Amino acid sequence: MRILVVGGGGREHALVWKIAQSPLVDSLYCAPGNPGIAKLAECIDIAVDDIDALKDFALEKEIDLTVVGPEAPLVKGIANTFHEAGLKIFGPSKEAAQIEGSKAFAKEIMDEQGVPTGSYRVFTDKAECLQYLKSTEPPYVIKADGLAAGKGVIIAQDIDEAKNAVEDMMEKKIFGQAGTSVVIEEFLEGPEVSVLAFCDGKNILPMVSAQDHKKVYDGDRGPNTGGMGAFSPAPFYDEELHAKVVTDILEPVIEGFKKRGIIYKGVLYAGLIITNDGPKVLEFNCRFGDPETQPVLMRMESDLVEIMLAVAKGTLDEVELKWSPDPAVCVVLASGGYPGKYEKGKPISGLEEAEKETVVFHAGTGVNDNGQIVTAGGRVLGVTASGKSLEDAARKAYDAVNKISFNAMHFRKDIGAKK
Ligand code: GLY
Repeated sequence: MRILVVGGGGREHALVWKIAQSPLVDSLYCAPGNPGIAKLAECIDIAVDDIDALKDFALEKEIDLTVVGPEAPLVKGIANTFHEAGLKIFGPSKEAAQIEGSKAFAKEIMDEQGVPTGSYRVFTDKAECLQYLKSTEPPYVIKADGLAAGKGVIIAQDIDEAKNAVEDMMEKKIFGQAGTSVVIEEFLEGPEVSVLAFCDGKNILPMVSAQDHKKVYDGDRGPNTGGMGAFSPAPFYDEELHAKVVTDILEPVIEGFKKRGIIYKGVLYAGLIITNDGPKVLEFNCRFGDPETQPVLMRMESDLVEIMLAVAKGTLDEVELKWSPDPAVCVVLASGGYPGKYEKGKPISGLEEAEKETVVFHAGTGVNDNGQIVTAGGRVLGVTASGKSLEDAARKAYDAVNKISFNAMHFRKDIGAKK
């Protein structure tokens, strides 16, 4: 088979790494890819949201399956365009991707289906939004309605901070058009878990659980990032909780899509918080999580390509997922300043040494004129290891992290330490 992966971050490196292990694969391409991916696939210089160019490439190369990593092309309708051109693609349609593209749409479908989530109000008028906030108690959860690269959620501790966040989103448009409408949500407390599930429109096949670390600093402090590390499984996520998540959350949402005439095919990502009243949905995403995919795929023993083909055919009920019992940990190494402003082009050393015991997934890397691997993004690398226990996996990952360096590199020291 000829496979094209769309994207160029750590998640896509993990997807390419896993897909390359499948005996079904003859040729593997990635657009745009990165220097880590280039060791496993031919990288093609096409941007993730240049849907027509991706389609033309897939037609020209007779690609049998295209796998989409990021949300932006899905929300823009890449799956619709590929289907119209007779091309097989792994990822939901534009209509289905609204579950991530619009927080208001996600809330609407959850309300309809009785899926547990925080209570909320949607505002397009700043004054009304501020008036409502004044009538409620802190902490205030303020979300930009559209896509904001994982950074569009602000938890404000007092009304002034809340007011600034609303002004930043609705007036200054710091998240672009994503802030045209704003969702104010109930503040929920409890441990968080990410549950990703394959969906073929009818059947749901959940993957093993994972925990992300969204805050930039140890102890979950500082601003939100795209994710500073993840591990799998979440130690508290037991069979009983899982059964509840499937029956109370995943199945009703897929049912909600069906009622709207939308067939959800691809990965449905549920970001959950386990409250005293049970699991509640914080967010849905229409794709694999980043960096959750890195430890989750490290644990997957099944052939990912077979599963993706079953999603396309609607035969997920004939597939069984196999997992290693060994936990896995991914530690993200970020550029100094991230998630704020950061510099690029810093040479990275120690990669080969680190790769002896771990897999170092490239997220934001490039190559300079001297052929050196350099930093090219906020999240630069995801050092991923598995071990006999979570502690063992974390120790291996951090041993490797200590071999890597670049100017102003920063990372969390507590990935895998949460209980
Ligand atoms: N790790 C969070 C996300 O993928 O959106």
